[in-house]
Amino acid sequence: MNQPLFVFYEIDGLPVPPPSQDFSYLIAKSPDQVLAAVQKAQQEAQSLVFIVNETECYRLFKLMEARAAREKCPPYSWVVVTENMDAFLQGPHIPGGLLDVVSKHQLVSDFPNLFTKFKALMRDSRFPELSRIGSQTLKKLNEILLKLTAERDPKNLLVGTLSEAVQLLNAQGGTLLVVNEEEGELVFKYQVQDNGENKIVLNETSHLVQENSVCGYVVLTGKTMNLSFAENNRNFSQPMVNRQIDHQQESPMVSLISIPLKDSRGDCRAVLQLCNKLSEGKVISFDEDDESILRSFATQAAICLESSDIYIEVQKLFEGFVRASITAIESRDPSTGGHSERVASMSVALARATTEVSTGLYRSVKFKEQEIKELEYAALLHDFGKIGIREEVLVKSKKLYGYQLSAIQERLKTFKAAAKIQFLEKVIKEGASKRQKLEKEYNQQVEQLDRCWNLILSANEPNILHKENEKLLDQIRDEKLPLPDGSAITLLNDEEYLALSVTQGSLTELERLEIESHVRHTYQFLKMIPWTRDFRGLTEIAYCHHEKLDGSGYPRGLTNHEIPLQSKIMTIADIFDALTAADRWYKEAVPVEKALEILAQEVKEGKIDPVLFEIFKERRIYTASVISSLGKVA
Ligand SMILES: [Fe+2]
Ligand SMILES: [Fe+2]
Repeated sequence: MNQPLFVFYEIDGLPVPPPSQDFSYLIAKSPDQVLAAVQKAQQEAQSLVFIVNETECYRLFKLMEARAAREKCPPYSWVVVTENMDAFLQGPHIPGGLLDVVSKHQLVSDFPNLFTKFKALMRDSRFPELSRIGSQTLKKLNEILLKLTAERDPKNLLVGTLSEAVQLLNAQGGTLLVVNEEEGELVFKYQVQDNGENKIVLNETSHLVQENSVCGYVVLTGKTMNLSFAENNRNFSQPMVNRQIDHQQESPMVSLISIPLKDSRGDCRAVLQLCNKLSEGKVISFDEDDESILRSFATQAAICLESSDIYIEVQKLFEGFVRASITAIESRDPSTGGHSERVASMSVALARATTEVSTGLYRSVKFKEQEIKELEYAALLHDFGKIGIREEVLVKSKKLYGYQLSAIQERLKTFKAAAKIQFLEKVIKEGASKRQKLEKEYNQQVEQLDRCWNLILSANEPNILHKENEKLLDQIRDEKLPLPDGSAITLLNDEEYLALSVTQGSLTELERLEIESHVRHTYQFLKMIPWTRDFRGLTEIAYCHHEKLDGSGYPRGLTNHEIPLQSKIMTIADIFDALTAADRWYKEAVPVEKALEILAQEVKEGKIDPVLFEIFKERRIYTASVISSLGKVA
């Protein structure tokens, strides 16, 4: 039988999910269209799942009964949409083949998971009849599904799955074994065990999946095993309990039910074992109703495990992407090596410290782990936009580029050669008797050129340019010197003069603006990435890392209330690292005390957050070593 055909009977405003490549469904708006869908399913050997409002399901059910009485019908089942599950399940006419009962909200908000679940239920030919499970249990199952779906931490999900199952069936204990494929072989990778003492432990294992244990047998056959030892009715053709792999506990094992958790592809991802059902103080066997409930639970739990795996894959993808991005940034400017990771470490440490503080302005700020992760990624990527800056500007350590200084040097050599030619010509013309005087003039010219050269070398350093040197530079710019062909040019062109006249640092105004544009490049780049909902604020946090509270920052000149708190945190870490980093060749590292003074001055001027700076200083956040959590997704 092919994939089931889902038919939405769209009466009474039944919500229909948006089209998806993963799920095929059609919408029927009249009984005729329903019959046409039945015809289609018959021709294409598909089973049918009707998704219908409670008010219409009985009418539709009768229509299908009449159709089935007349001619051959494909197998069909129902998902009923109702806002009152209890009343519906206690009603007198529950249609046979009822697959699930869901609310309108669930149908729209969680439809990918629901469709996966419907398909899994369809695939299992013994899917539980909901009428048998009972409304209270169904309600409980739905609550558990919602709870487990929201769990992001894989360890918590495994522990939660076992704990919910033990409670649901009132078992004394249980074990959940996670199956993994390693080098072409199936192994039990994790074992979560509840041995009935209110303590759940998770261990790594490496047992091969074989038929030498109950759980191995369940994985390999896909069958549920319901064993009872008390009545001495163990079937010896069934696998024996393996004390190394299967559930273990102190008290005697009276009953053990083991069920596979199959994903949407039908692969077994885990085995759930529950031991010793408790009823009125006694230990009894699990009955058929328990099997039905557990089968329904297993279907839902498997979907949660699958979703969690997908989530981890996405996390790993992001981690890999962030790591590759850092390598790319730092390969452009090796002198800033480690900057991104240090800023990330300090930002994370400052965010955690802010969360811990219970007094002051930020006493109610409690960053969640996911928000801290978002801040860490934003900090790691904050300077990624430097990838869009010309490399010569990015690594510019002197006021002139190397090629500019070489050009000046060549000009100087030419001027000296011109002076020499002029001197020799004059000697020939005016006679040897004037040679001494002419030679003196010539030497003065050469000395003057050497002085110019020394001044240029000094002005080329990214130090503060003194006033007297500024004047000398003006003279050099204005003075035209002769060339051997008789023409004359200046030693410095406009561009070189402009670069040397920079009064502080090595960058001209245009180059400074170019460097500052890295923030916009970061924004443009991060904006293109389809971040998950957990990281929806990441781009904005990184975009604001050079903004200042008083509006003097860039690129947007935002003010205090417009800047996210996470960006304010990152700004402190960024400035501190830029000052103290020892590995930039164009500037010497500033000692920690001096860096704190500079930051304190920024606080005084109303540029950075005073409360965050106080925490940064008091808690010595700047000592945070590089503790990037990259690669720690588990
Ligand atoms: Fe930056
Ligand atoms: Fe930075």
